[in-house]
Amino acid sequence: MKVVLGVSGGIAAYKACELLRLFTESGHEVRVVPTRDALRFVGEPTWAALSGNPVTTDVWESVHEVPHVRIGQAADLVVVAPATADVLAKAAHGLAGDLLTNTLLTARCPVVFAPAMHTEMWQHPATRANVATLRERGSVVIDPAVGRLTGADTGPGRLPDPAEIFQVCVRALRGRPLDLAGRRVVVSAGGTREAIDPVRYIGNRSSGLQGYALARTAVARGAEVTLVAANVTLPDPAGAAVVRVGSAAELREAVLAAADDADVVVMAAAVADFRPAERHDAKIKKTDGEPAPIHLAKNPDILAELGSRRKERGGDSPRVLVGFAAETHDVLANGQAKLARKGCDLLVVNEVGESLAFGTPDNAATILVAGGEPVEVPRGPKDDIADAVWDAVAPRLR
Ligand code: CTP
Repeated sequence: MKVVLGVSGGIAAYKACELLRLFTESGHEVRVVPTRDALRFVGEPTWAALSGNPVTTDVWESVHEVPHVRIGQAADLVVVAPATADVLAKAAHGLAGDLLTNTLLTARCPVVFAPAMHTEMWQHPATRANVATLRERGSVVIDPAVGRLTGADTGPGRLPDPAEIFQVCVRALRGRPLDLAGRRVVVSAGGTREAIDPVRYIGNRSSGLQGYALARTAVARGAEVTLVAANVTLPDPAGAAVVRVGSAAELREAVLAAADDADVVVMAAAVADFRPAERHDAKIKKTDGEPAPIHLAKNPDILAELGSRRKERGGDSPRVLVGFAAETHDVLANGQAKLARKGCDLLVVNEVGESLAFGTPDNAATILVAGGEPVEVPRGPKDDIADAVWDAVAPRLR
């Protein structure tokens, strides 16, 4: 496929070299179109050597090839990483003063922007309006990650991990529809840990892979995603706002807060049903006699609470509520009962065991649908399961 990598003048330009390599190594033909300022950070020879293609910034070189039109017209994907506030503004307003902005105006393929800038610039009403305009026109604008910026300051504005930007681009190349554009989605992922004392906990084997796949694919389909992650060690999916939690109580608080203005809530996290009734402030020491028993108390069922809260509020907040069920036996019967009991619209059921589902890249599932036929999702990558979930969610949002 023909990919145009636009690079604008931000310090994160060096990370675009890695993105470029991911494209070339997977067989794509990449034309790098930097802005003049981008070349202050990473020089033309680097882009030319890594892409194997000529690199120009303005429309006055190789004029006989009409590059200001041809490059955009021929592209299967244009990705701008990093996208500065300046290039977002130019793209939103249709300015065409250099080769990159000309390319953006002539491209009819999917366009992905990965902004990176200081927090103040990202949050400025002018940038917010430009991002909204670009999204309305069908471009994917990946929210920047939160973290360390150029200096000692931190906040939203970091370029996401190049490998995660690459994932969004691969999906855009496959031509998936932006059927979640403008939708607010909350996904919980991972497994909660319930403290026994300061060093010990009761936990479970959930890796967070399925929840992260749901977040990643929702971003790629245009959604604004809040990912509530319980004890997950995976890289943040590009574009998702990640809220880290530990226990079921923390997860509940984060999910209920984010769910307030959400269109969709997906509870993919493995939430502990019980917690130690008492949390010791000091580490429990071994004693000579019998070990002290750990008494358990019941945790609130967050999914069921979301279901009943929605009922009380008149039925459409959130519009779609999705649960997961991990079952070791009587998978479908248990799933159907759970779907009804928890008041959700969809329930993704999978069989779990020592080597099934947990921590593996692949899974198989059945999506149970309230008032509809179940959907079988064959064994495949967790991204495919996630897409099948969004395929079932999207029509319910129309
Ligand atoms: N869940 C939740 N809060 C809990 C427990 C589970 O929100 N305290 C959610 C999970 O995130 C998942 C769904 O409920 O979406 C199913 O969880 P599961 O543990 O399988 O269901 P249980 O109600 O615990 O049923 P059982 O113990 O009978 O399997």
